[in-house]
Amino acid sequence: MTDAPTRPPVRQSLVTCATPDEMSAWSRAARARSERIAFVPTMGALHDGHVALLREGRRRGDRLALSIFVNPTQFGPSEDLGRYPRDLPGDLARASDAGVDVVFLPDRAAMYPPGHQTTVQVQELASGMCGAGRPGHFVGVATVVCKLFNIVQPEVAIFGEKDFQQLALIRRMVRDLNMPIEIVGLPTVREPDGLALSSRNRFLSSDDRTRAVSISRALFAARARFESGERDAARLTSDVRGALEGAVDRVEYVELRDAQDLRPLDAVDRPAVIAVAVHVGGTRLIDNVRFG
Ligand code: PAF
Repeated sequence: MTDAPTRPPVRQSLVTCATPDEMSAWSRAARARSERIAFVPTMGALHDGHVALLREGRRRGDRLALSIFVNPTQFGPSEDLGRYPRDLPGDLARASDAGVDVVFLPDRAAMYPPGHQTTVQVQELASGMCGAGRPGHFVGVATVVCKLFNIVQPEVAIFGEKDFQQLALIRRMVRDLNMPIEIVGLPTVREPDGLALSSRNRFLSSDDRTRAVSISRALFAARARFESGERDAARLTSDVRGALEGAVDRVEYVELRDAQDLRPLDAVDRPAVIAVAVHVGGTRLIDNVRFG
């Protein structure tokens, strides 16, 4: 992550835009004033992890844009699109408190009008990990993020590292498609007991919530083993899997990958990440730790 100068906030009241045309007009006007636009794309149900992204955006841009769009194309037919949490009044209050200047709130028809047929596919980075368990998910993500970038025209966009594969894929897309946008990744924000913040945590029952703590515990234990000298990927991942299998309902994957290009590693001889996806109750959760 490159360091950026702290910019003085340029605040006006919160503007909302419902259509790509309105949003682009807002951005054109800001750019005409030579204002640097920082952008945080989200699906709403904002939590403190999103607020950390917004605060970073506030620091890096003269203007801060937030999008809230529950993107249907990144959900599979049996996934939780219908029950994905929505809290627009709460989101707008948080956005305003975090210094957001404009919120882009398109509906499905505005983003995918009849006849829409173009998609963005990032090949290798979308295979394996979440791409294996969620076929089509990353085509939906890359397509919507590409569209949002074209509409918002930011100089910098901020994403969380909890969605580690998503972040790697977006960095690749921006490079491959020559988009003049700096991509910034921020560390995962956690509850005091280690649980990674997620909009889906609100679905956890109190028993699920207790069991979900095993995810970060297992990952932190693997990092501690690495710090004590363990370098073997199979041993590190099987420890994590063993700890998770006793606690959650299903372990979808435990993978140790190169932290840059996400290639599978046999041994940790470079910066690496262990990433997991598990199911607790009816809720799918992901998390990761980096080391090396
Ligand atoms: O990380 C998310 O919330 C979504 O995948 C994103 C990047 C907003 C695209 O819909």
